Amino acid sequence: MKYRYALLALLFLCCKPNPQSQEPTETEIQTAVDNLLREMSLSEKIGQMSQYSQPTIASGPERNPQKSDMYHDMIREGKIGSFLWTWTSEITRELQEIAVNESRLGIPLLFAVDIIHGYKTIFPIPLGEAASWDLDAIEQSARIAAIEATAAGIHWTFAPMVDIARDSRWGRIAEGAGEDPYLGSEIARARVKGFQGNSLYEKNTMLACAKHMAAYGAAEGGRDYNTTDMSDRVLREIYLPPFKAAIDAGVATIMSAFNELNGIPATGNRYLLTEILRQEWGFDGLVVSDWTSINEMVIHGAAADDAEAAELAMLAGVDMDMMGDLYQSHLHHLVQSGRISETQIDQSVRHILTLKHKLGLFKDPFRYCDAEREQHVVFHPDHLLAARDIAAKSIVLLKNRTRTLPLEPRMAKIAVIGPLADNHKELNGTWAATGEADRSVTLLEGITSAVSKETEVLYEKGCDILSDDRSGIDRAVQLAQQADAIVLNVGESADMSGEAKSRADLDLPGVQLDLVKALAATQKPLVVVLTNGRALAIPEVDELADAILETWFLGTQTGHAISDVLFGKVNPSGKLPVTFPRHVGQIPLYYNHKNTGRPDLGNGDYTSKYLDIDNEPLYPFGFGLSYTTFEYADLKLDKQTLPMKDTLNITVKIRNSGNRKGRETVQLYIRDVAARAIGRPVKELKRFAQIDLAPGEEKIVGFSLNAKDFSFYRHDNRFAPEPGLIKIMVGGNSKNVLETTCTLLSGV
Ligand code: NOJ
Repeated sequence: MKYRYALLALLFLCCKPNPQSQEPTETEIQTAVDNLLREMSLSEKIGQMSQYSQPTIASGPERNPQKSDMYHDMIREGKIGSFLWTWTSEITRELQEIAVNESRLGIPLLFAVDIIHGYKTIFPIPLGEAASWDLDAIEQSARIAAIEATAAGIHWTFAPMVDIARDSRWGRIAEGAGEDPYLGSEIARARVKGFQGNSLYEKNTMLACAKHMAAYGAAEGGRDYNTTDMSDRVLREIYLPPFKAAIDAGVATIMSAFNELNGIPATGNRYLLTEILRQEWGFDGLVVSDWTSINEMVIHGAAADDAEAAELAMLAGVDMDMMGDLYQSHLHHLVQSGRISETQIDQSVRHILTLKHKLGLFKDPFRYCDAEREQHVVFHPDHLLAARDIAAKSIVLLKNRTRTLPLEPRMAKIAVIGPLADNHKELNGTWAATGEADRSVTLLEGITSAVSKETEVLYEKGCDILSDDRSGIDRAVQLAQQADAIVLNVGESADMSGEAKSRADLDLPGVQLDLVKALAATQKPLVVVLTNGRALAIPEVDELADAILETWFLGTQTGHAISDVLFGKVNPSGKLPVTFPRHVGQIPLYYNHKNTGRPDLGNGDYTSKYLDIDNEPLYPFGFGLSYTTFEYADLKLDKQTLPMKDTLNITVKIRNSGNRKGRETVQLYIRDVAARAIGRPVKELKRFAQIDLAPGEEKIVGFSLNAKDFSFYRHDNRFAPEPGLIKIMVGGNSKNVLETTCTLLSGV
């Protein structure tokens, strides 16, 4: 019987036309790698493990600035395996020609760039895209980024950034998917699939990199690069799941983090990079350090000198040294002195060469740099359409008093005000160096093209993003007084979030709040459009504005996407992937917190609360309004008691009770009420589903949960469920939910 199936499978494989017929098999690759390794000198092996940035571009402190000519010589000598921050088909071709034609073994170079949310067509920043909760759209955005970037000769993106962040002061929260490990894992998977496609051998797919392993997002005080310290349980339940999800989705590479975790810098952390990553999870791809993070182990105080730092990174499992030049300078000696074995070096080189084979670089080193394709695909109209679609889906409607929105596109006069309303420079957000700011559509441009010909669009900046100059506020007020409605675009500049961009305050910078106040006093309908890379604490804006749209940084199609929502062409459906606090003092603030022994139930003293502010967030995780309304009813379970090996089926009815078609993200949370010796979070997101409903329409949404979904790191450190009472909660955000319970039975 077995033979029959094997034969059928063989026949199927033989007969199936294989569009990738040139693609080498695993065995072919391993044989080729072994053969090459036998020919390589130690110096050439170390070269493969060394990555440098183009001399003109730095995304960190430059330790060893090299001149181009010097790089050329190093390539010839086989001393460079990979470049970062190197792109355009022309430049990559030039360097590749030297590697292939002028070095002894002709090993092709690997080119990497941080293609975080688009190459030329820039999509919303990752935190913004996460607010769409639309996994297909997120995958598509990564797919398009790969299509454009690969044509420019780029083989490898340092994305997705899968760090969970519960602290919006940390500027890099903009680069991830927010605070939740489940949503973060789903998005990690979608992004990896988008970048890597079905096969790395295709010319328009690229290596993805899940970063930064690990717990970088938990930097103390929200200050970038700062120390993290946490229990293994929190590490494994909150910070590691998105990495595991990325690995399950086949991510080819992992980047080690800058931070120290529980006393050990992540880049020298064998527990993380070998025991968990390779031994527990079976990862067999490539691990790259972060920019000079090997060198920084000396500054951390964890290595006596550069040589020891290189040794520690090798022992931890870092295959490639990004920009540190330490493998280049010290590995030779470390091997000769027996501190590192050549077998270990071979293992790292094997990871690198295998990926070069998988990309097809040994068959054709120039297959990615294709000037004609680059010209054809960048800013392709289909890409712009997709960018507009996901940008609109990323917008979250935070407030809509008396249906201020949508606006009437035929109104006589609209006032567009604010330092971000016509500011090309800021639209693309952090990590968009390959983009072209001038090609991005501002809000003013978007509104002008969306309103009727008769509508007069008035514009005034009002104030700067950061300065304390109030001189423009009066002009803005005068202008607003003539208009039927005000659209006010305030927030942060693009360089206020991203790497090394932590903030101590989460309010509107500069005098922007004064501008909001002055315009609110006109009594004209006031729509505040927020542009920012993190959750902000804006209770006054919430009070003063009639409507608020959170738009993050939306990229190339910013103005069109916001206008689509402002004028009702698109009904907003975004939901916050991160909790918005009332006050920075509440941070860290996240929905899946613990209950404490004295939760604040509004019942007096000696409870876990602040004297001066509420515990409640301004807007909870998962929150987002629509131009229609959704009613939840009939939350049902197919069983009240659940044997551990069984599946729990859950249904809930959702009705569109408004008068517009809309999309709702239905969220399922659980709470393990008594988990035996361990306190569990008050809510944990376990599933979500997106549904489109016409006015009056209702749908039953079904979810299934099994033992794995109820599992956690128990008191005995086993990842398993505990019998007992479980709350099941479903709603349109993490706060307002329908609730029921079931009992998980012990044993089978
Ligand atoms: C440092 C950043 O931490 C990392 O995310 C990025 O990929 C590298 N620089 C390369 O630009």
